[in-house]
Amino acid sequence: MRGYDWESLLAGAGSGALGFLQGLPGREIAPAATRDELREALGGPLPARPSDPKAVVAELAKVADRGLLATASGRFFGFVIGGALPATVGAEWLTAAWDQCAGFHALSPAAAVAEEAAAAWLLELFGLPNDASVGFVTGAQMAHFTCLAAGRDAVLRRAGRDVEVDGLVGAPPVTVLVGRERHATVDRALRYLGLGTAAIREVEADGQGRMRPDALAGMLRGRSGPTIVCAQVGNLNTGALDRVGEVCEVAHQAQAWVHVDGAFGLWAAASPSLRPLTRGVELADSWATDAHKWLNVPYDSGIAICAHPQAHRAAMTGSASYFPQAAGRERDPMDWNPELSRRARGFALWAALRSLGAAGVADLVDRCCALARRFAESLVGADGVRVLNEVVLNQVLVRFGDDDDLTRRVIAAVQREGTCWMAGATWRGRHVMRISVSNWSTDEDDVDRSADAVLRCYARERRAATPDARQSS
Ligand SMILES: Cc1ncc(COP(=O)(O)O)c(C=O)c1O
Repeated sequence: MRGYDWESLLAGAGSGALGFLQGLPGREIAPAATRDELREALGGPLPARPSDPKAVVAELAKVADRGLLATASGRFFGFVIGGALPATVGAEWLTAAWDQCAGFHALSPAAAVAEEAAAAWLLELFGLPNDASVGFVTGAQMAHFTCLAAGRDAVLRRAGRDVEVDGLVGAPPVTVLVGRERHATVDRALRYLGLGTAAIREVEADGQGRMRPDALAGMLRGRSGPTIVCAQVGNLNTGALDRVGEVCEVAHQAQAWVHVDGAFGLWAAASPSLRPLTRGVELADSWATDAHKWLNVPYDSGIAICAHPQAHRAAMTGSASYFPQAAGRERDPMDWNPELSRRARGFALWAALRSLGAAGVADLVDRCCALARRFAESLVGADGVRVLNEVVLNQVLVRFGDDDDLTRRVIAAVQREGTCWMAGATWRGRHVMRISVSNWSTDEDDVDRSADAVLRCYARERRAATPDARQSS
């Protein structure tokens, strides 16, 4: 729109964003508005006529704000959700303004090359083969899909089947061995790929949820036929990491493809002090991780990495006469992604890595782990409070009074109270509070205030649960 008053539009958006960002440290985490209030503010009949864009942005900033869960806050510990590093917020604004279609080098050389640079940096950070291929997808869910599509291509090709041409009908069955405590997104990816959840064979896990390599070896013994093994670094509850080196050793003897779910745990490889926990991870065939979790890039930003670029490309590429596909050394992102047209999400990832550097990434990961340990230490001193996991990364599982109901009520009370926000999960048949420390801005004061709030809520709920308190209320 020639001559459009961008300055005042962006100033309006900027002041809305600034109000939010500056208010984050003092803000209650829970949303202020109810669904009905939000429906009234955001819903109603389809507008019949245009409105002034500046007014629309101002209205959105005002009404949506009350319905936001402050997941970007340093006191949000509910899921493995990072905040947004300053450089990434700026990069995202530019990305929206540039509005690049990142599928092809020819449509955005800058987007394609920023991805290429970020890909090389990521491989170096994680210690993965420097010739691995990388796709920048929406999240670990689609990274699983992309990597397992490559794995499906490779294991079936070895069995004499070109699944890209001949499909799955009549193909030899693919068996997928997965740890008992895998993330649900692995099953979902297998469904999307037509392998189905019936292809899954569960491998026993140890007390922290790690796949047992000896159990895997037993299940692989004497097996033939196309096989994929899915390991995990960073159990969604405990944070525990599978011993991927041992998993790869037995899986590769059986000609299986090893995929690693490292949605957050792969970032441990970027920290020199934690890297030993990921020993052998570089031997796998594919890896899924997220930048929107521990790297603190805004949603959405996932990464699919594959040690076999040929299989990766065979599973993802496509062609049409009108595609401006690269003929030379240029990298077309669509060769490595399930999408064709898409947002240039590599810019924000590039900005995160450029602003932190290797030392900054390691520091971010180490800091979150130290704060998780601080959380655990602050809570376990209280009577009846137990931490159920070994706090190896950023995850802490807490149980109150060894009681499901009390634990549920403490979580609900903490969410209502507003100082911080944690969620619950069922682990090994017991309800737990799940604490994840993943935000770049979380500091010791956030953790101390939050631990105090949790203990306050626990004391109140415990008193309310005693028979005397029930009788007198
Ligand atoms: C271990 C693990 N794998 C996969 C996922 C899925 O990631 P995403 O939501 O980015 O698709 C998550 C979290 O959501 C996770 O914790």
